[in-house]
Amino acid sequence: MPEPAGGLSIERLTSLEPGVLAELVERGRSALGESALDEWLLPVIAGYGYLFVGRIGGGIAGSAEVIRCASDDDLYLEGFYILPAHQGRGLGRMLLSGVMERLAAMGYRRLLATLDPVNAAARQLYAGAGFRELDQLPDHYGPGRDRLLLAAALAGEEEMT
Ligand SMILES: CC(C)(COP(=O)(O)OP(=O)(O)OC[C@H]1O[C@@H](n2cnc3c(N)ncnc32)[C@H](O)[C@@H]1OP(=O)(O)O)[C@@H](O)C(=O)NCCC(=O)NCCS
Repeated sequence: MPEPAGGLSIERLTSLEPGVLAELVERGRSALGESALDEWLLPVIAGYGYLFVGRIGGGIAGSAEVIRCASDDDLYLEGFYILPAHQGRGLGRMLLSGVMERLAAMGYRRLLATLDPVNAAARQLYAGAGFRELDQLPDHYGPGRDRLLLAAALAGEEEMT
């Protein structure tokens, strides 16, 4: 049984130095494979969306990539991962709840995400964070790549006081 992890610090990156960009590309691929964002999209998320990293001892242990939706004040969680070496120790739960708190404090009301129905870890993580199923998206990323559309309420600042 892996040890629970402590000391996760969450940081929003608004621009990416070349070394950090290369590190994020490599780490994203190691956790998400071909669906990871690359060097062409990560700077776009950092500059015009919300790019968060979770660090342990200074090194990047995971990341959350968030964009604003065209409709309403919704946000969409485009990518989320914890590096394989750090998985199963509660870090995903810590990073996701920390990111959701920050987005709520900015005034956003709802976070959308898609889930591969066979991804048991992500299913458990999202359920624990309050995500509920909104819709089924068959062949969403091409033939056989089905997804579920999920949404979670973000508690607004006014609701937290
Ligand atoms: C999904 C992911 C982010 C979870 O991160 P993690 O740090 O391993 O998760 P945690 O240790 O915080 O566990 C979160 C919950 O998931 C559960 N869980 C973790 N791994 C699991 C697994 N393989 N099967 C079932 N449940 C699992 C934990 O028990 C915990 O549940 P609880 O809150 O009810 O106790 C991580 O596995 C990952 O990066 N996977 C690859 C990328 C990915 O699938 N991203 C999400 C979709 S974009």
